[in-house]
Parts: sequence; structure tokens; C-alpha cells
Amino acid sequence: MAREISTVGVVGLGTMGAGIAEVLARSGLDVVAVELDDAGLERGLGHLRHSTERALTGGKLDEAGRAELLGRIRGGTSLSALSEVDLVIEAIPESLQAKAAVFAELDEVTRPDVVFASNTSALSITEIGVHTARPGKVVGMHFFNPAPVLELVEVVRTVVTEAEVVDDVVAFARRLGKAPVVMGDRAGFIANALLFGYLNHAVRMYEQRYATREDLDAAMRYGCGYPMGPLALLDLIGLDTAYEILDTMYHQSRNRLHSPAPLLKQMITAGQLGRKSGRGFYAYA
Ligand code: CAA
Repeated sequence: MAREISTVGVVGLGTMGAGIAEVLARSGLDVVAVELDDAGLERGLGHLRHSTERALTGGKLDEAGRAELLGRIRGGTSLSALSEVDLVIEAIPESLQAKAAVFAELDEVTRPDVVFASNTSALSITEIGVHTARPGKVVGMHFFNPAPVLELVEVVRTVVTEAEVVDDVVAFARRLGKAPVVMGDRAGFIANALLFGYLNHAVRMYEQRYATREDLDAAMRYGCGYPMGPLALLDLIGLDTAYEILDTMYHQSRNRLHSPAPLLKQMITAGQLGRKSGRGFYAYA
């Protein structure tokens, strides 16, 4: 690989950012993780503790490995902590304005050859890229939840992304033990474009009282071999995140499949966001 990568900056330590930091540290990379404040950092470290606990229980990691992994992740609350990193992966909430502001600041503090990767699942990489001084070095690097378990990474190139940047990011994803796929910049990329029509349809079926949530989920688990049913999966993804993804795809394609089911918005307004809020289609302890 042309590009030497040993230290990676992760911006945002929510579910995805923490999962990505874990994947990186697990592969022997040093990670500098930046959150808005100490409370955000503490929440992120909580995700890491919880996830590595599951890896421990599942026999994927031992105590020494876990301590080593966590020891490779350094936290910070200012983007200036990323001045020495070789690659940045941004995983903050889905706001173009917020992402643009992060990358504009990173333009100032990182070396000009550093690649900027966004984990966005809904926004256009092209639009994010044009807000930087290095659009040729901006790509999508879209991980799947839970990032330490799922192997797919969608590498998204824009019309101006340099070919060698794409090659380097693909090679880097392989180094992380992931299975990269490459595609152009369209809402939903590959997996979400196919998945979310199905998830939305399941919400509509539930809304129209065709079946109970348990039976809807059981049908897909036991009939199609999916690891979890659509409503349980929406709780894992987060209903707010799912809504944003559907809404963006709907606005881009006008495909009714992606017009968010009204129940989703109602549940979000009522604070039922899924696992992260303790309640979604199901209740969580
Ligand atoms: N590191 C390494 N391995 C880990 C781990 C970690 N931090 N945490 C868990 N694991 C391993 C476990 O050891 C276990 O391994 P084995 O199967 O070999 O025993 C495996 O991962 C599963 O873990 P659990 O037993 O704890 O949990 P589970 O069996 O109930 O599976 C699940 C949970 C992985 C979430 C599974 O149900 C699943 O894959 N569901 C589908 C998730 C999915 O579709 N995600 C995509 C969402 S869409 C998205 O993310 C894109 C977007 O933009 C929103």
C-alpha cells in the first residue's frame, strides 16, 4: 500500500465511531478519538467497554488483548489532537453542516495528503468533499452496525476522488479484516438502498396491524435465515438514524418504497428511538 497508516483519527464516538475505533485498535493501529466534550468521551468509552465485554464473553478477545486494545485508543475533545494522524474517519451525526465544519477545521490541522473518510450512511460524499480544500482525498468509508462484527465496508468514490486514494482505502479496509466494496456516490450506497425499502415495508405492515412485531420478526428470522427481524434491526440501527436514511433516499429518488412510514416519525417524536433510548419496537432493560 502506498500510504503508510499507523495512527487514525476518529471523530465522533457514538455507536458507530466507538465500533470503528475498536476495529482499528484491534488491528494494531493507534487511535485518537475526538468527541465534543468529556461527557461524550465517557459515553464513547462506555460503548467500547460494553462491546469488548461481549467480545470477551464470546471468546473473541482475552483480558490482556482487551487491555491492549483499549490502551491504543486515546481520547480528546479538540480536533487539534488529530494533527499527527495518517487518516481521519468521521462518524458524527448526520448533518452536512456539522460534517463540513469538522472537515474545514481538519483541513487546517492535518497534513494535506491525509485522506478524509466519512462514515455517513445518508449524505452525499461529493457534497461533503466540496467543503474541503482536498476533495480528491475525500471518500466514504461506511461501516455496518455492529462494526466489530459485520465485515462489510462500503468505499464510496466521488467523481473527483483520486483513484489511488480509493485503492489505498480498499487495501486499508482489508487490513482491518473487512470485506470492502466500491461504488459511486448515490444515496443509500448499495446495502442501505436495498435494505431500507424492506425495513420501511415492515414498519408499514406493523402499522397496519397485519401481524405482531414478534411474528413479523420471527417470519424473517426463521423463514429467511436473517440474524434478526426487521423491527429488532430498526431498534439496533436507531429509529432516528433509519428515518434520516429513508428521508434522504426518498428525496433523491422519489421512490415510494423509501417514503418513511408515518409510525417511524411518531415513535421518534415520542422518544422511542430503539435500543439507545431503552425503547423502540421493543423495550430494553
Ligand atoms: N468484537 C468481536 N466479536 C464480537 C464483538 C466484538 N466487539 N461483539 C460480539 N462479537 C461476536 C460474538 O462473539 C459472536 O460470535 P459467534 O457468533 O462466533 O459466537 C457474534 O459476534 C454475535 O454476537 P452476540 O452473540 O453477542 O450477539 P448475537 O448472536 O445476538 O448477534 C448481531 C447480534 C451481531 C447484532 C446479529 O444479530 C446481527 O448480525 N444482526 C444484523 C445486524 C445488521 O443487519 N446490521 C446492519 C444494520 S444497517 C447499518 O448498519 C448501516 C447503516 O447505515 C445504518
